[in-house]
Amino acid sequence: MLNLGIIGLGTVSGYGHLPAASSSPHWRLAAIADVNPQRLAQVARDHPAAAPYADFRALLAHPGLDAVAVATHADTHCEITLAALARGLHVLCEKPMAGSLEQCQSMVDAAGRADRILAVNFNGRSALIYRRIKQLIDQGTVGPIRVVRIVYDWSAHQWQPLERMENFMRNGGPVVDSAVHFFEAIRWYTGQDVEHIDAQGVVLPPYEHPQHVIATCKLSGGAIALVEAGWLYTNRSKDQGQLYQIDVIGDDGAISYDIHSNSLRAFGKSSTLIEPFEDSDKNFPYIYERFAHSIAQGKLVDLASGLDGLKATDAAYRALASTKRHK
Ligand SMILES: NC(=O)c1ccc[n+]([C@@H]2O[C@H](COP(=O)([O-])OP(=O)(O)OC[C@H]3O[C@@H](n4cnc5c(N)ncnc54)[C@H](O)[C@@H]3O)[C@@H](O)[C@H]2O)c1
Repeated sequence: MLNLGIIGLGTVSGYGHLPAASSSPHWRLAAIADVNPQRLAQVARDHPAAAPYADFRALLAHPGLDAVAVATHADTHCEITLAALARGLHVLCEKPMAGSLEQCQSMVDAAGRADRILAVNFNGRSALIYRRIKQLIDQGTVGPIRVVRIVYDWSAHQWQPLERMENFMRNGGPVVDSAVHFFEAIRWYTGQDVEHIDAQGVVLPPYEHPQHVIATCKLSGGAIALVEAGWLYTNRSKDQGQLYQIDVIGDDGAISYDIHSNSLRAFGKSSTLIEPFEDSDKNFPYIYERFAHSIAQGKLVDLASGLDGLKATDAAYRALASTKRHK
């Protein structure tokens, strides 16, 4: 069993990292850290075997630690990751990888120097629907990919508490927080880098960054992609909803998923497949299983690398910058 420390015990740790790590046969939750004393005390009550720390640097010195999960906000990821790698720990870092491209690069370089695993947590690598689509692509269902579209819009009302959304709005809004997953998935599906991005955004007071963005991309192998991410959908409706759609279009067929039909349709050359697919599961147990496996193998297996994280984060920041040029 490997010893894990989790730094940042907020929302994503609450539903993802803490339950997955503490119930994993591969991990022992050895230490936890949060700057918020109430949150730290609450999580410490639920996980009495984990040593609680108010300061992440103290956690990094916890005896026998093998790895840390960094689940704070993006502007602290670089500092924490560099300190963890310098102590010889493996790192699973939440997306977006860091606050700038330079910070992402320094994390990649440090992981290489330390010869430690640096994985970046993107839902696309773990969620069943994304992995099923990737499997169909690899089986040749659609042939060479020409177009990928990923649309994910939801209501800002779903953010609780509201301060949490404001924090994400300060750090770039949905094109950085949500769309970074989709830029990563597009790279993973096509094997192509995002070369050119043009994006438009809706900026509404009091926020500096757009609350809804539509980005079009030209990829390095000639495919094109559309990424849409927003938090304006159904904001004033009685009932809140979400739009979630993934389409992969190739020479030989197309694969489509949408959250309303809860089904995946794959139209291939010689067959059509319709699979019911109730997916909202980010599948953190899979991430922790793969993280442990990667450490055992001494190389990253089935998770996004630091370089993948850098490229997706770069695409998200380029899309954000493009919306500013169009203001
Ligand atoms: N992969 C996913 O599905 C997913 C989902 C949600 C959020 N995220 C990402 O996870 C990260 C955290 O998001 P969240 O929604 O949990 O935020 P959050 O605000 O709910 O929680 C962040 C926590 O980090 C703590 N913190 C801040 N600075 C710290 C520091 N220096 N040391 C220790 N603790 C510190 C805060 O007190 C808070 O408890 C973000 O990068 C976000 O984009 C990923």
